[in-house]
Amino acid sequence: MSFDVRTVKDLDEFTSAIFAIGQYFGMTPTEERMKRFLDLITAERMHAAWENGAIVGGAGAFAFDLSVPGGGLPTAGVTVVGVYPTHRRRGVLRSLMRGQLDAAHERGEPLAALWASEETIYGRFGYGLASFCGEIKLAHEYASFAVPFEPEGTIRFLEPDEAGEVLPPVYDRVRSQWPGMFSRNDLWWQDRELKDSEERREGAGPKRWVAYERGGSIDAYAVYRHKPGWEEGSTVAELRVVEALAATPTAERDLWGYLLSIDWKATVQAFLLPPDHALFLLLATPRRLRYRMGDGLWVRLVDVGAALSGRQYAADGSIVFDVHDEFCPWNEGRWKLEGGAPQRTNADADIALSAPSLGSAYLGGVSFASLGRAGRVEELKDGALMRADALFRWDRHPWCPEIF
Ligand SMILES: CC(C)(COP(=O)(O)OP(=O)(O)OC[C@H]1O[C@@H](n2cnc3c(N)ncnc32)[C@H](O)[C@@H]1OP(=O)(O)O)[C@@H](O)C(=O)NCCC(=O)NCCS
Repeated sequence: MSFDVRTVKDLDEFTSAIFAIGQYFGMTPTEERMKRFLDLITAERMHAAWENGAIVGGAGAFAFDLSVPGGGLPTAGVTVVGVYPTHRRRGVLRSLMRGQLDAAHERGEPLAALWASEETIYGRFGYGLASFCGEIKLAHEYASFAVPFEPEGTIRFLEPDEAGEVLPPVYDRVRSQWPGMFSRNDLWWQDRELKDSEERREGAGPKRWVAYERGGSIDAYAVYRHKPGWEEGSTVAELRVVEALAATPTAERDLWGYLLSIDWKATVQAFLLPPDHALFLLLATPRRLRYRMGDGLWVRLVDVGAALSGRQYAADGSIVFDVHDEFCPWNEGRWKLEGGAPQRTNADADIALSAPSLGSAYLGGVSFASLGRAGRVEELKDGALMRADALFRWDRHPWCPEIF
């Protein structure tokens, strides 16, 4: 069944569309909150599905620039996807995905990316698991570093106003190094990062902002909360790291040295860390991080040609893909990637793959070899997967440090 899908035109429609998912979050759709959301997403990027004049589902897409290996690309940052429980499994999501991907294609956004509430939903629409991330829970007594050091810089507290000045340039420096991070505009910084509403604290205290400075340059920052607690007379306090980003290796080491040494806590907790985070090699006992990994960003190539030409490659060389893409058939067919430039070709393909597998490999976070072992790509010529990996690999795993 197909539903009438179009973008919303005012705050009322926007609110009904958002509340499709809002109710699963237990959200109270206050006017103030909806206005803020509307400013961030904008009406022309929020699709709703109608049946008999009533909204039965919604899906939004932030206008991001996503960092990709060696660059950045306009990206539909898919968010607030939901269908009213009265209308589930009748094709509402499918209709919304159709409208949303067509719109991204028309706008010329080569990529779409999202965090999935469940891994089973988005593969059918061409999204592939493109990065992994995980949480840590490190006991205070295991915070020693493998190589003891004296910090080379200093840490100081920031008031929220100053944080608004200091954090964005550091974030942008880090973003230019790591594939998988999305651009944050002023509104995003104000609303998502600097704001510290009670409801987001989950039992912990307010946000603390610190900057790390070395040689006159602010190279890192951290945002964290204390969650105090006692059991049988001893502290069970948690230090919850909201975000810790460093633009240089020394800053990374010193920043985590600061966070891990803070007194009067039992554990340090952090979320969404990439599997190649420096902590694994910085710490004396990395096993004690108790790292638990899951899926991170899911990526879809909306326009295969523009997406492939929008990133850089680790080597010269050429590879021919035979791309299967039922949901976005404009991508179907054989593509030759040579010297970083993709073009349509009639040449024999080296690798046959579907849209989700190309999405998985795109940021360099999932190798073609891994996809091959999982039966997710077909190697049509011997050695093709290794050749493709030589092109697509990057010096780090993609990292998106925030769920959007
Ligand atoms: C997930 C959700 C959006 C699906 O909407 P829906 O309108 O029921 O989905 P559709 O009827 O269009 O289903 C399209 C396809 O996806 C499948 N599907 C939908 N939800 C699924 C799920 N949670 N797990 C597995 N498959 C799912 C359907 O079976 C159908 O499969 P088909 O292509 O083989 O026929 C809806 O259940 C929902 O709002 N869930 C709660 C909020 C949520 O998780 N949102 C996603 C945020 S990232």
